[in-house]
Amino acid sequence: MLQVSHVNKAYATPRGPLEVLSDVTLTLTPGDAAAITGPSGSGKSSLLYILGALEPPSSGTVTLGGRDPFALSANSLADFRNAEIGFVFQDHCLLPQCSVLENVLVPTLVGAAAAHADDVASRARSLIEHVGLGDRVEHRPGELSGGEKQRVAIARALIREPGLMLCDEPTGNLDHVSASMVASLLLDLHQRQQNILIVVTHSTTLAAQFPIRFEIVGGRLTREG
Ligand SMILES: Nc1ncnc2c1ncn2[C@@H]1O[C@H](COP(=O)(O)OP(=O)(O)OP(=O)(O)O)[C@@H](O)[C@H]1O
Ligand SMILES: [Mg+2]
Repeated sequence: MLQVSHVNKAYATPRGPLEVLSDVTLTLTPGDAAAITGPSGSGKSSLLYILGALEPPSSGTVTLGGRDPFALSANSLADFRNAEIGFVFQDHCLLPQCSVLENVLVPTLVGAAAAHADDVASRARSLIEHVGLGDRVEHRPGELSGGEKQRVAIARALIREPGLMLCDEPTGNLDHVSASMVASLLLDLHQRQQNILIVVTHSTTLAAQFPIRFEIVGGRLTREG
């Protein structure tokens, strides 16, 4: 379960604190798929960074599976993030010098998963098949289309079966055919893995496919559906 309680976030700036999130509270359970929409600058990415334990809140609490990531040491936090949280960003963030297969395997190179190299390699191949790139396994990111790169990013985010999958504008750079393919894949893999899926998007078409919908305006989160 993901529990976010009274989270506030202010960034320190030369002109004083900039308040970006105000009293955000939400609870999601495994199997939930939620979209977050809102105007540019309303705090959507800031919220995802906090949910993904990349940025601490200024106040309030976040727990995932009953654990508060911000109470962990730096090393434990890195392990926690790697094992429990999958990220997909608008820009795929793949390693350009590595193949599709190697990119998908990156999250497994550290921690406990490294011990089961054969298992993870076959899992990676089956995820790559599942995202429709079975015949692109040895391609480098530079040899893939934008939609294909994003599908690799999805496979990479899911390789360790994280309980929480966070996507920031995953279809933002894609044409509508690729965007709808990536959206279907995200929802399909979410159904199979029964994780918590949260997608930030400007696309009303994408948001409409989610059973749970939130809107952020001026740092305040409200549930729309
Ligand atoms: N590290 C930072 N330091 C200071 N201000 C920041 C920082 N990161 C974001 N901001 C500011 O916080 C506000 C919210 O930013 P955020 O990136 O969360 O918006 P967003 O809703 O994701 O917008 P977009 O739809 O354009 O991606 C913005 O006004 C931004 O300028
Ligand atoms: Mg953003």
